[in-house]
Amino acid sequence: MSGKVYFVGAGPGDPELITLRGNALLEDADLVLYTGSLVSQEVLRYVKGETINSHGLNLDELTEIMVDAVRDNKKVVRLHTGDPSLYGAIYEQIVALKEKNIESEIVPGVSSLFAAAASLGVQLTLSGVTETLIVTRPAGETLESDTIRELSKYHPTMAIFLGVHKIEEIMDKVEYPPETPAAVVYHASWQDEEIITGTVADIAEKVKNSRIKQSAMILIGDVIHPESFRRSHLYGSQ
Ligand SMILES: C[S@@+](CC[C@H](N)C(=O)[O-])C[C@H]1O[C@@H](n2cnc3c(N)ncnc32)[C@H](O)[C@@H]1O
Repeated sequence: MSGKVYFVGAGPGDPELITLRGNALLEDADLVLYTGSLVSQEVLRYVKGETINSHGLNLDELTEIMVDAVRDNKKVVRLHTGDPSLYGAIYEQIVALKEKNIESEIVPGVSSLFAAAASLGVQLTLSGVTETLIVTRPAGETLESDTIRELSKYHPTMAIFLGVHKIEEIMDKVEYPPETPAAVVYHASWQDEEIITGTVADIAEKVKNSRIKQSAMILIGDVIHPESFRRSHLYGSQ
């Protein structure tokens, strides 16, 4: 491990849900830059070297710290929550490092999407219900407009990141029958995980009356409470 920056997926929060490779890199790192409150402190306990919270640093500042450390022969890990490839803003960091002739490697992680599905006991793609999972987010500060309405028309399983504070707008927008199951999982896999289940019609009200304001996954679709489904050919058809 040297000469490059490792973008490591920290997993959703539970320290046992980081990969063996991610864990080994954390233990070996001289410097770990982590994404603020999104990364669970429990995962940081694997780190023996220096840690820097990247909250408030701009891309130039972040890049300079990583470049200087690599040039000092330090082993550098950039730790991102869940899987780095989902809403991780890693590509701009990889490009900025490349411009300074520093290579990168991505080590995948367990996304909060999969931790939320596990906590709900849900199979995201279920034969006879839907074969399609859509991963998206609502418009906001860093996104002018979204396509949630269009994407919902075919009634896929939909996983919505970065959107629990907009749940009312989202549920007004989607074109599922109102009785379609919906769920919100706050801090999936953390000690203080919280789950709210309901329907497209009532989940926004339930969330509004809860303490959940951020760090939550919204899932919509019949896979949450399937009325019926087809058994997989893998185990013989029904
Ligand atoms: C910047 S994105 C990062 C997503 C991350 N790369 C992943 O794969 O989970 C942050 C959003 O991910 C979701 N999220 C992250 N960790 C979560 C968790 N433990 N439980 C539920 N949602 C989580 C929330 O929607 C949060 O607003």
